[in-house]
This record gives sequence, structure tokens and C-alpha cells, in this order.
Amino acid sequence: MKKIVLMLLSLVATAAWSAGDSFVNEKAHNNIRSMDSLRRGAQTFVNYCMGCHSMNFQRYNRVAKDLGITEEEMMDSLVLTDARFTDKMEIVMTKEQGDQWFGKAGPDLSVIAKARGVDWLFSYLMNFYQDDKQANGWNNLTLPNAAMPHVLWEMQGVRKAHFEEVTDEKGAKHKEFKSFDQVTEGTMTDTEYRDLVRDLVNFLDYSSEPARLIRLSYAPWVLLFVSVFTFLAYLLKANYFRDVH
Ligand code: HEC
Repeated sequence: MKKIVLMLLSLVATAAWSAGDSFVNEKAHNNIRSMDSLRRGAQTFVNYCMGCHSMNFQRYNRVAKDLGITEEEMMDSLVLTDARFTDKMEIVMTKEQGDQWFGKAGPDLSVIAKARGVDWLFSYLMNFYQDDKQANGWNNLTLPNAAMPHVLWEMQGVRKAHFEEVTDEKGAKHKEFKSFDQVTEGTMTDTEYRDLVRDLVNFLDYSSEPARLIRLSYAPWVLLFVSVFTFLAYLLKANYFRDVH
């Protein structure tokens, strides 16, 4: 019992820590049952993220099977390297090269949705802004001073962040984020960009536990079985107890 309480307490503490850790202001509202959304997310992932991030726990043929994509479609539009259909979604850039080129290599994103949560990921991809003080010209509200550039900037457009100096109750001054100022328009509207990010986060969410799709598809059958079984068990009980007075 004591062990369980301790475990629960540490879970709560971890959740509180990760929630307070950074600026999360948006909910992802993604739906891993939407195959269209997952397919679009996979496309964005291979086009814009796999330059720097691998997904080593995921294989192309698994993605194809789960998302209802044929081998031909997969090889034509989603496998952009000379990888084979059965290969893992690895990248050629090594961690050492990543560390050297970006100051810090982009991590493998297989289980990032479990580690950070979908709302964090959604906010992170929404919250890039231009910052001339950074080596790569970009900064991020959710992960301040991130080594990652804003790779989706063409779609979202360039934005700058507006901060104001505030004084807290203890008299200490710090900068507080107020708003984004759009510097140049993106190729997408705000709604289109949100949908793009939502689909991408959806794909990361699915990839962090591909078996969840199967689990969800079994769920109605399991519930049906449980209800039919309960009903039969009830009839049986009624029958047994009929003669007990
Ligand atoms: C040009 C290389 C590059 C590309 C392309 C890129 N990233 Fe990154 N990414 C990085 C680097 C470098 C980091 C490490 C940032 C840090 O910790 O400061 C990072 C970090 C991240 C993180 C944070 C991981 C964590 O928990 O700290 C996420 C999430 C992420 N990237 C998602 C994406 C997605 C989604 C895409 C595609 C839209 C993408 N990245 C494209 C280089 C890249």
C-alpha cells in the first residue's frame, strides 16, 4: 500500500514538474482515429522534420499498414531517402554531427508525445518567433533558446514576440510575454497552419504508441462482450437462485 501511495505521489510530482516546466498555452485537440489527419501528419513529418529527427522505433511498413497506405504510395511520397519499405525511420545525420551543426542534436522523436505531451508539442510548434539575439535567428516561448530553427516558418510567416517588463510581489523585475507581432504573412492562414501542426502532433502521438490504434478498434467489441457476458451471468444467477428461499 505504502509503495502504491509513493508511486502515485511521484507520478503527481512528475506531472506537476513537466507542466510547470514551460509555456503551454494551447491544446492540441488531435484525434488519432482520423486516418486522413495521420496521413497528412506523416507527410509533414517526412518533409520537414526528418532532416534532423529520426523516429527509430517506427518502421515505414508499419506506418503504411496502420494508416492504410499502399507500399507504392509509401515509397513514392513518404520515403524520401534510399531506405527500403521495411526499414526503420532512421536518418543519416549522427548525433555528433547534430551536436556540431546545431549546438545540440535534435532528439529521436519516437516517444516525444509521451515525454512532453501533445499540448506541449502543439504549443511548441505554434510558439516560434524571430529573435536576432539567437545564433539561428529563432527563439521559442515553450522551449526558450531552443537550438531548433523554425522549420515551418514559410507556412506560419515570420513573427516577433512582444514582451513587457513586469515587477512581481517581491519587487523582482522580469519580462512577460504579451503578444506576437506578425512581420510577414505566411503561405497559410492561421487556421490552416493550426491544422497542419495538429496533424503533425497527431502523427507523433500515434507513433509514440502505434498499438493504441488497434486497442481503440478492439474497445467496442470488448465492451459488447462484457455487456453480453454480464447479461448471461445475470440470467444464470437468476436461474440458480430461483429455488433458494
Ligand atoms: C534543422 C534541424 C531540425 C529540423 C528540420 C527539425 N528540428 Fe526539431 N530540433 C532540432 C534541434 C537541434 C533540437 C534541440 C533543441 C534544444 O533542445 O535546444 C530540436 C528539438 C525538437 C523538439 C524538442 C525536444 C525536447 O523535448 O526537448 C521537438 C518536439 C522537435 N524538435 C520537433 C520537430 C518537428 C515536429 C520538426 C518538423 C516540423 C522538427 N523538429 C524539425 C533540430 C531540428
